[in-house]
Amino acid sequence: MSSDSSALHLSAIINEAVQNLRDGGLVAFPTETVYGLGADAKNPDAIKQIFTAKGRPSNHPLIVHLAAPDKFDQEQIDWVPIVAPWVRDLSEDALKLMNAFWPGPLTLVFKKDKSVLNELTGGQDTVAIRAPAHPIAQELLRKFKGGVVAPSANRFGKVSPTSAADVRSEFEDMLDLMILDGGDCEVGIESTIIDLSSGDHPVLLRPGLITPREIFAKTGIPVYLPGESSSTKQGGDIPRVSGSLRAHYAPTTPLRMYAPGRVLDALSEFPDIKSRVAVAVWDSDSSLGEDGHPSVHFEEVIVPSDSVAFASRLYRSLRDLDQQGWDLILFPEPPAGEEWDGVRDRLQRACFGSGPSFSSHANN
Ligand code: TXA
Ligand code: MG
Repeated sequence: MSSDSSALHLSAIINEAVQNLRDGGLVAFPTETVYGLGADAKNPDAIKQIFTAKGRPSNHPLIVHLAAPDKFDQEQIDWVPIVAPWVRDLSEDALKLMNAFWPGPLTLVFKKDKSVLNELTGGQDTVAIRAPAHPIAQELLRKFKGGVVAPSANRFGKVSPTSAADVRSEFEDMLDLMILDGGDCEVGIESTIIDLSSGDHPVLLRPGLITPREIFAKTGIPVYLPGESSSTKQGGDIPRVSGSLRAHYAPTTPLRMYAPGRVLDALSEFPDIKSRVAVAVWDSDSSLGEDGHPSVHFEEVIVPSDSVAFASRLYRSLRDLDQQGWDLILFPEPPAGEEWDGVRDRLQRACFGSGPSFSSHANN
């Protein structure tokens, strides 16, 4: 197929996806972070279908995805008319953040406009919004001409999908689910979430590729951690995000992290494991060194020591390793540093929820 005819083909598929959304159906689509499971943000029945398909409790709010104007010059987008119908007010900080990072992997939480459906906010008074950067997501949103709610397209508590095939394997029983294939997601972990609804300062709710330091550098806006006050805050120098340790993004195979050089310590929790342990090692230091064990076979898997590259492959690696029948998967603890907060958060949750006994205490 020539590139012209494949562009036409894609355009026809997106038109069909738009029709599905208008008819109250679900459409999975790529974003630059992870794949989303989309529905019309103005259709309560369609929103309910998302919760059913994911097995997600109905009080967990969804993100509304909005289009950027066609052929935009990012410097000149006027986000006000795009976002205003969804929110009660738009602060100076909100405008600066949107101008600096949208379209892109940043979600902002606002006080909601009264027209925003309770079904999508989980009954809360706030609404989360983002304009994704992926061209297929943008074309879908532009043609749909409305907001699309989209959680990550995975079953509740499972690893988020970063390819169309991952989405298919999550929803194998939903044979008629339309999935737009946009290849592998570049960012690989979910968007950074900043809460602008809670009064005087923005608060980081979920770490991601865009860090508080980058936000401060580009906009001069200090982002606080939950519970942090202005008296404990020091300029743009943000401490590590502690994050909740609830299970999330979890593989079925047990997963743990090991401290540098302490692979054997990580095994002590699993006295019955005789063999088949996959150990991720940094590409900068691709050897287990002195570590060894008489009865355990370690298989090394190289992972990038750059935080951005690591994030982009994290869920892919977890999914692939989970398929390979290991008894245990070990990942190195990410180093200190804010650029690692997003992956540290996802890995901690994945460890906590991993293993065959995983039950429904996850949060997405
Ligand atoms: O990168 C992403 O954000 C992806 C792609 C598909 O856009 N979406 C995503 O959605 O990760 P989901 O539903 O898996 O995670 C949304 C997160 C949840 O942790 C939810 O609690 C939080 O956003 N959230 C949504 N609305 C909120 C609100 N009003 N206040 C606070 N948190 C909110
Ligand atoms: Mg999710």
